Amino acid sequence: MKTIPELLCERELPELLIMRDGTPVTRDNWPARRAELLDILQQELYGVTPAPCPVEGKIIQTDERYCAGKVRHDTVDLTLHTPYGDHTFPVQLFRPKANPNAPVFLHICFRPDFPDRYSPIEEITDHGFAFAMFDYNTVATDDGDFTNGLGGLYVGDRKRRPHEWGKLGMWAYAASRVLDWLETIDGIDAKKVTVTGHSRLGKTALWCAAQDERFFCGISNDSGCGGAAIERGKVGERTERITEVFPFWFCPRYKDYSGHAELLPFDHHFIVACVAPRYCYIASAEEDLWADPASEYLSAAAGSAAYELLGLPGVLPVCETMPTAPAEFHDGTIGYHVRKGLHYYGREDWLRQMAFLEARV
Ligand code: GCU
Repeated sequence: MKTIPELLCERELPELLIMRDGTPVTRDNWPARRAELLDILQQELYGVTPAPCPVEGKIIQTDERYCAGKVRHDTVDLTLHTPYGDHTFPVQLFRPKANPNAPVFLHICFRPDFPDRYSPIEEITDHGFAFAMFDYNTVATDDGDFTNGLGGLYVGDRKRRPHEWGKLGMWAYAASRVLDWLETIDGIDAKKVTVTGHSRLGKTALWCAAQDERFFCGISNDSGCGGAAIERGKVGERTERITEVFPFWFCPRYKDYSGHAELLPFDHHFIVACVAPRYCYIASAEEDLWADPASEYLSAAAGSAAYELLGLPGVLPVCETMPTAPAEFHDGTIGYHVRKGLHYYGREDWLRQMAFLEARV
């Protein structure tokens, strides 16, 4: 059986710890390297993220009796005052009354429903976490239409420029704006906010945490291609398929690499590295071969080099060979698990992710 270093070597990854001009990366110039990595990821994959805009949150409804009265639930209208006009979308916030300084999960959701099969709210608030969520479609629809929501404000019906942001970038940007608002309210610890999402929204959450250093942790659940998974040598979904079916998730430039992942000036361990020195968590499902658990694990392993440079353990314990489900790596700054079963954001994922965070908040 091949060892992890052998498997990584086969992928021929671009160098993480060498600056563009060839200078080796040290602890001192790491911030400059991180800025380079973010720039590469913006130019080539997700598109350029605009500057933050002012936000305004208005609580429009409060339910003090949620979950047998254990939880205060607020429905909030969050308005982003962009330079091109305002966009308002609903955010739901659930604060456990038993913990007045609660760490928070900010879940970028597929649906407006609460609870939802991917959002076991009572379980999460019973663990002492607050839970904030928004439905990604209310920020910008999940399609090639750039005439609604943030798409309408920033792009409209013209053709996007090669490095202009796509929908993943817009959803990630919205999550950062939710954090702007969370920083202004009571009953939570805004320094302990974890952004999370599943699948396409796992890609989004990881990109959000990579860029926004205020997030305590970024979780990618089964994010696969375009998210946590190493693209070179990936099985299941690959660059050519994702850029064909979902070109609007990324910047137009990314499509140039269709069929040529080996030419990408990055690979996805760059994204994990940008989260350093903060916590990062990658979750995989054994039967989710479309996402490719092995490639997801490899980006945790390769991204660990940035953490080690900063004097922190990456993914721990170190695994000699590819982990098989069920397996959990909770001793380092990057958490990882691979569970049995299919593509899903289930109770087991949440329980493992909460256990990782509970030991750290
Ligand atoms: C498709 C897509 C994946 C994505 C998934 C999802 O399967 O190919 O890249 O992660 O949808 O978001 O559910």
